[in-house]
Amino acid sequence: MLRRKERQLPAGWHRAVNIQGWFGLHEARLLSRLCTGPWCEIGCHKGRSTTVLAETGHDGYAIDTWQGTSDKNDPTYGARVYVEFMGKVDRYENVIIVKSNFRNPRTVHLVPDNLHLLHLDADHSYEATKLAFELYAEKLIPGGHVCFHDAKGGGWPGVEQFVAELPSDEWEHVDTVGSLAAFKAL
Ligand SMILES: C[S@@+](CC[C@H](N)C(=O)[O-])C[C@H]1O[C@@H](n2cnc3c(N)ncnc32)[C@H](O)[C@@H]1O
Repeated sequence: MLRRKERQLPAGWHRAVNIQGWFGLHEARLLSRLCTGPWCEIGCHKGRSTTVLAETGHDGYAIDTWQGTSDKNDPTYGARVYVEFMGKVDRYENVIIVKSNFRNPRTVHLVPDNLHLLHLDADHSYEATKLAFELYAEKLIPGGHVCFHDAKGGGWPGVEQFVAELPSDEWEHVDTVGSLAAFKAL
């Protein structure tokens, strides 16, 4: 039987669950629990996980090109998904929406150095996962957390490989729920 705490729904789950996406309830619980202060998400799509983060009430940055990674042949993809995202997330005054490639130096510069949580869920190649981590994880406070979506399950070997290589004397693996792997900055 689940303990009371494990049965609780994360704040705003009733909103998030109605947004198309891949983020599950147990993943949302973990993300919400680890979001204890300013956060940054790279890869927002239609706003499912962004809504979970926004509902914590902490200030955050939602970064996405809204160009997709696998749907490049459909020129309307970005516009449609962005409109859907804005319809769900624009209501939150605590969220700064950054329509940009995470590689853009101005975007990197924009994100402050006081993050409690970094959620990486954009380009799932090994190189992009490594680069996003290198550019943004240094913005975490000691004791802050980085979460990788699609870090388990076999679908995204690049993410799994990168996560497996994280040095355990710098990054403590605290939990993996669904495909979401969470590490604490030591
Ligand atoms: C798997 S979806 C994110 C899912 C979202 N976290 C959710 O809960 O539904 C990946 C997103 O990453 C974005 N993306 C891919 N490459 C990117 C890049 N280099 N910079 C910023 N965003 C990127 C895509 O536009 C897409 O919306």
